[in-house]
Amino acid sequence: MARMGAPCGRRLPLAALLLCALLLQPDTAGAWKQHAPRLRVAYKDLLKSNSSRLLLSSGDGLGFQALLLDEDRAWLMVGAKNHIFLLHLDHPGREPEKIFWPASREQVEHCRLAGKDVETECANFIRLLQPYNSSHVFACGTGSYQPVCAFVQLGARGKGALMRLVTHSLQSGRGRCPYSPRQPFTALLVDGELYSGTSSDFMGSSAAFFRTWVRGAEQSYIRTEQNQDHWLHEPAFVGAFAIPDTYNPHDDKVYVFFRETALEAGQWDRRHIHARVARVCKNDVGGKRSLINRWSTFLKARLVCSIPGPQGTQTHFDQLEDVFLLRTRDPQNPLIFGLFTVSSGVFSGSAVCVYSMAAIRAAFSGPFAHKEGFDYRWVEYKGRVPYPRPGMCPSETYDPLLRSTKDFPDEVISFVRSHQLMWEPVQPQGRQPVLVRVNVPYRLRRLLVHRLETESRHYDVLFLGTDEGKVLKVGLASGTEVINLEEISVSKAPSPILDMKLSPKRQELLVSSTQGLFQLALYRCELYGKTCTDCCLARDPYCTWDGKTCAPHQLTEKRRARCQDVLKPDVLSQCQDTAEGTAVATEKLVFGVEKNSTFLECLARSPQTTIRWLAWRGEGSGLSEIRTGGHFAVLEQGLLIRQLGREDAGTYECQAVERSFSRPLTRYSLRVIQHEAMEVPPYRRSKGVEGPRMDPRALGAPGTSLDTYCNALWHQERQRQKAWHQKWQHRSPESKSGRVRRQPQAL
Ligand SMILES: *[C@@H]1O[C@H](CO)[C@@H](O)[C@H](O)[C@H]1NC(C)=O
Ligand SMILES: *[C@@H]1O[C@H](CO)[C@@H](O)[C@H](O)[C@H]1NC(C)=O
Ligand SMILES: *[C@@H]1O[C@H](CO)[C@@H](O)[C@H](O)[C@H]1NC(C)=O
Repeated sequence: MARMGAPCGRRLPLAALLLCALLLQPDTAGAWKQHAPRLRVAYKDLLKSNSSRLLLSSGDGLGFQALLLDEDRAWLMVGAKNHIFLLHLDHPGREPEKIFWPASREQVEHCRLAGKDVETECANFIRLLQPYNSSHVFACGTGSYQPVCAFVQLGARGKGALMRLVTHSLQSGRGRCPYSPRQPFTALLVDGELYSGTSSDFMGSSAAFFRTWVRGAEQSYIRTEQNQDHWLHEPAFVGAFAIPDTYNPHDDKVYVFFRETALEAGQWDRRHIHARVARVCKNDVGGKRSLINRWSTFLKARLVCSIPGPQGTQTHFDQLEDVFLLRTRDPQNPLIFGLFTVSSGVFSGSAVCVYSMAAIRAAFSGPFAHKEGFDYRWVEYKGRVPYPRPGMCPSETYDPLLRSTKDFPDEVISFVRSHQLMWEPVQPQGRQPVLVRVNVPYRLRRLLVHRLETESRHYDVLFLGTDEGKVLKVGLASGTEVINLEEISVSKAPSPILDMKLSPKRQELLVSSTQGLFQLALYRCELYGKTCTDCCLARDPYCTWDGKTCAPHQLTEKRRARCQDVLKPDVLSQCQDTAEGTAVATEKLVFGVEKNSTFLECLARSPQTTIRWLAWRGEGSGLSEIRTGGHFAVLEQGLLIRQLGREDAGTYECQAVERSFSRPLTRYSLRVIQHEAMEVPPYRRSKGVEGPRMDPRALGAPGTSLDTYCNALWHQERQRQKAWHQKWQHRSPESKSGRVRRQPQAL
């Protein structure tokens, strides 16, 4: 409930109060509440709740950029500057295993001479960790601007053997890993082949999408065409996934997500960035006479994430930052969650859009885009499309003459050379973002989704990493309703979140930032509050009211759990038969001095709660709501009454309002000490003037919580009265008739 403060009236500097009042104009407050989480968890509260732990601290700018988690074997591999770490999650006390893998001295020198920064660039930053088989992981590092890759062998379980770098497997990392520790890139290892979207030169200028064979000597590779802007134009790769298209394995494809400068975005606006999805067939081996060692099935489409505005306008979020593939029971139809940002002079923000594979496939089977006409514009291609349709994977099942892409007719190959872009963009589900954050002080950088399934429905929880060290936990009920749950400061100082991995089995998140590597529990139910109402209002699918506390779900399966179904709109009805449904607010007796200001404190437990003040003031008047204006100011911390008047005496109740439900938090009984009473000795008060005399019944009345300050005040006042009486009795009769002045005493 409301925090205990100084209920006898706290005087805040007026300037500060005016500032508060200005900042809390209804509009700004409203916009702010809209994004407000149920719970803001500061770093120190996080530690106190034992729901986070520092696994590795980032001394020497280690920069934990690559995380690889094996849930079954409970280990986490971490790629950092010159090091690979292996943490055993079931043995938190155990020292992490470590491989020291620096760049060669010559290469560091070479890097330095090229004008790069020795500390932050000229080292081997491990950026790629991909599982290869049950005993080996494939790893690549920047190698101080000469990328290198090698296998890492895991120690045999139970035999005490440690992880080691297989030195004879060292090979070039060109076309697999970027040269720079900062350039965006993506990689995916499937069936012994590494798909990577990366820059492939020192300058970082020519990024491409590659496939290389990772087993040693064989130098076969395939890639996007070089220096062909319509294939790729200054791309930044974000994610790649292998997704089967049909039951025919020949149709298996790899989808890659990136952003690039869009050529079709307009002849004038050359810098316009678009988000893209591209795909290739896994069995693509390039063309025979032309497109040798080049993708012959590479197609791309625009990913749209925009908010519809008036008159058909759209506000686009085009800067793709991260992609998460949410697997469903149907392996051919995972959901794609994309995280986008936008920034312009007037507007900046982030959005999350969700795409179905059906929508993505529809774009790829739709019309191609094409440049033509007198002004050479991008238009829909309406000409004849050759057979087999470009982008289709070769399969004997479909056509016995098409065993490989080398069997494609020349006509197909030449069409593919010049038609990579699809005409129709991919629209998100619902044609708008599921989550938008605009004009907030942070940008969203990383995205992870945890789907919780119940018998009939599902509930997605989004974990969003910001560029200032926070993780936002947001629920998506019925796919559209956004429930802001938590805003967690993972590290002590704000620093960008680099990577996140989810461990559903361990119910935790592994988060790396430039500050270190952290383990973070998925929930902190007890922090939502000590009542059923607080617990249920949060609508956190990991938490439930078990009759006594707000507790994690699975622990309470046997007991009678409430508010389990966070999708139910009337979560609170589930708490109504509990005692607190009729609970009375905390009651406090407070004194204010006439003509002075008084402050009645009332803090909402959650930033999502709105506070409402009701008052019964004066004799016989009814209940009224107090709003800012006149001598009242409703502030975030409480109610300020300026220039207290006699008529202000009464009862004030502060209520927490949310989701059309309100409940009392604190009830104040305000007594006004009259101004004269401060100056006039007590004997004068008999003349119809009520002094600071306390109703003795209130003192001992049950349910009245008297703050020590009030007690002290009252005690002091009694002492003063006693002293006056004693003085009076010892005075001469003449002076008894005269008025005695005394210095007013500060309360
Ligand atoms: C956190 O862990 C410490 C040590 O294990 C323990 O003393 C403390 O009570 C725990 N706090 C909470 C809130 O669980
Ligand atoms: C995994 O791959 C490595 C490297 O090619 C190989 O030496 C090893 O035998 C493989 N292990 C298993 C269990 O297949
Ligand atoms: C009333 O306010 C005045 C000016 O702010 C202050 O000097 C005085 O001490 C206050 N009196 C009491 C009794 O609080």
